Amino acid sequence: MKTLNTIKAIRKELHPLRMEKKRIALVPTMGNLHAGHISLVKEALNYADVVVSTIFVNPMQFGPNEDLDSYPRTLEADKQKLLDAGNHFLLTPSVEEIYPSGMDQTTVHVPGCTEYLCGEKRPGHFDGVTTVVTKLFNMIQPDVAVFGQKDYQQLTTIRKMVRDLCFPIEIIGLETCREADKLAMSSRNGYLDKEERNKAPALYQALEQIKLALLSGEKSHTTIIKNAQQSLESAGFSTDYLEIRDADTLECASTDSARLVVLGAAFLGKTRLIDNLALELNQK
Ligand code: PAF
Repeated sequence: MKTLNTIKAIRKELHPLRMEKKRIALVPTMGNLHAGHISLVKEALNYADVVVSTIFVNPMQFGPNEDLDSYPRTLEADKQKLLDAGNHFLLTPSVEEIYPSGMDQTTVHVPGCTEYLCGEKRPGHFDGVTTVVTKLFNMIQPDVAVFGQKDYQQLTTIRKMVRDLCFPIEIIGLETCREADKLAMSSRNGYLDKEERNKAPALYQALEQIKLALLSGEKSHTTIIKNAQQSLESAGFSTDYLEIRDADTLECASTDSARLVVLGAAFLGKTRLIDNLALELNQK
């Protein structure tokens, strides 16, 4: 595996491979890699000849009071995991390499699906994500890019951006990897102390409670959410949002939407966790 930290260097490596008609896959990450990230790399290997992973903690997607400075940076361990997974190139650019003019630069804004849920709770977050992902797409020019479904709204937003801006890139969304107790894997789980870690699966359980209620035919979304919120909060979480949405558009789900996703964000102490569960209702 080759590790590079400039745009020029990665372009130089990829150009001849592209000329040889090799398919290139991109796996963008912010590092502190866990089994979820590694599953993205392994999936990418099924779609392409060459896998390029990137590790960049993107300042543009963090709000002023968020965890940019404390976000875990574990480059040496990450490199070993990528090497073991069969990754070919790793790009680890500096902030100056990605943002040579500072934050005063062109941004990409995807309207609609970024306006609610995490978009409402974290103003500017998705513009930061879509701007850096656009840059990575232009640097690497991959045939395919792989993202985790844990960040469901991010994936929906990137799919819309790719459609709207005609990027010739296939987007693959991969199922969330979970710990044995069903907690979604996340770099932010590392912030939890032992007591919080024990409580953390309650977020998944609240989403599961909503999913089961919907599958059992309960119609009132308000009641279903209220009950799940009670369970979540009695487990020690403070709810940021719990919502039932259309799985494709993320618009509010009507009572006859068939493909749904239940999304939640909640704080455990200072740590904000997100998770989601998709489901299909068999309409009669
Ligand atoms: O999902 C992430 O880790 C980040 O949001 C991404 C896609 C790498 C952009 O910084």
